[in-house]
Amino acid sequence: MGRKQFNMAKTKIRKAVFPAAGLGTRFLPATKAIPKEMLPVVDKPIIQYGVEEAIAAGCDQIIIVTGRGKTVIEDHFDISVELERQLESRGKLDLLAMARQISNLGRVAYIRQKEAMGLGHAVLMARDLVGDEPFAVILPDDVIDATPPCLQQMVSVFDEVQSSILATQVVEGPAISSYGVIDAKPTARNPRIMEVKALVEKPKLKDAPSKNAIIGRYILTPRIFELLETTPLGAGGELQLTDGIRGLLEHEKVYGYSFEGTRYDAGDKLGFLKATVEFALKREDLGDEFRAWLQGLSPLKS
Ligand code: G1P
Repeated sequence: MGRKQFNMAKTKIRKAVFPAAGLGTRFLPATKAIPKEMLPVVDKPIIQYGVEEAIAAGCDQIIIVTGRGKTVIEDHFDISVELERQLESRGKLDLLAMARQISNLGRVAYIRQKEAMGLGHAVLMARDLVGDEPFAVILPDDVIDATPPCLQQMVSVFDEVQSSILATQVVEGPAISSYGVIDAKPTARNPRIMEVKALVEKPKLKDAPSKNAIIGRYILTPRIFELLETTPLGAGGELQLTDGIRGLLEHEKVYGYSFEGTRYDAGDKLGFLKATVEFALKREDLGDEFRAWLQGLSPLKS
């Protein structure tokens, strides 16, 4: 096995890649002119939850893979001079601090994916910006409420296993066919950490090797880039990240990690509604009033 050696004592996950070029067809008509990554859960665009998670996990370089119609994502993480000037002159210092905090969220680089050729292709676009070091991938649609944040949990596992890690959760029934699915064996030291034996993208229910679905958080070694270069197109005629990771298995260990926390598929209407309600209920400034209002809703009483 030609296992690539990193000097793990010095290796830190510094870079997080955010594929954000998808068309968001599951959320039409809202996403006709607005990127799905900018849909707000309560008052924050879903991509900002992911960026804050990456920074909390110690990443200081954010790489966003965008496409046509996504420039408002760049504007969101940039300084808004007019807005800041107005907030300052009106003495709205709390809002000013919030606006500044967003543009100070670490270094953000953008690269365009010119054609929607799949998640593996989107990750491959980040190759030059990532270079030869392990890195994180965050799929912004997957908003995860967890303490510590999901990526931080995975970074702790990476410190231990020094290999690629895929976040997973159990998915029951036919919904499993919407995911990458792993066949894995729990490790003796921690059953949440599983050694991956095989993985398949969007299997039919009868072909799914387990109920452990891949969720949108990955830590990958840079070998993934050379593998993605030669991975044939897979499910849906797209270059699948899952297929590239299957290639990794021939060279190094890959782990599944069943994270602690709740994941919302915010790219789906129902998942988005659930995230909105749960996050609003947790807000200090809104939660009590919102809870009281929800409890009084007449359709819930019948
Ligand atoms: C992608 C991945 C899939 C993974 C899922 C998690 O699928 O290809 O392996 O399980 O994200 O959200 P998509 O949701 O882009 O179809």
